[in-house]
Amino acid sequence: MKKVEAVFRPEKLECVRAALDELERAGMTVFEVKGHGVQGGVTQRWRGGDYHVGLVPKVMVMAVVYDHEVQEVIETILSTARTGAMGDGKVFVTNVEQALRIRTGENGSQAL
Ligand SMILES: Nc1ncnc2c1ncn2[C@@H]1O[C@H](COP(=O)(O)OP(=O)(O)OP(=O)(O)O)[C@@H](O)[C@H]1O
Ligand SMILES: [Mg+2]
Repeated sequence: MKKVEAVFRPEKLECVRAALDELERAGMTVFEVKGHGVQGGVTQRWRGGDYHVGLVPKVMVMAVVYDHEVQEVIETILSTARTGAMGDGKVFVTNVEQALRIRTGENGSQAL
């Protein structure tokens, strides 16, 4: 199993969620987060002044998926979350050692 953590623009959440749900795979967790990438935030102009915002609001979708699903999930996120402008976000993928369904105690390949 793999954990996919995707950080992207909040206005893309519904689009990404709908596309992931169409893959008919299991659940996801959504976090409201703040962060910055290599540019270290954004500078916004407001009432004639420049204001630096160091931490920009983003959302993070976390989904644990079976190995055979991971490529499709990544491609779906890339194609739905992208605008082409700086700040579109990142996708991180890590290995998951164990998953358990609390209700039944099911483990591993039964748990997602
Ligand atoms: N190395 C990182 N580790 C953890 N989170 C990150 C990292 N890089 C980016 N993020 C998260 O992703 C969000 C969006 O990052 P962003 O898309 O600006 O990355 P970038 O590398 O600056 O790319 P771009 O040049 O397209 O802006 C950040 O606000 C932060 O929450
Ligand atoms: Mg950036």
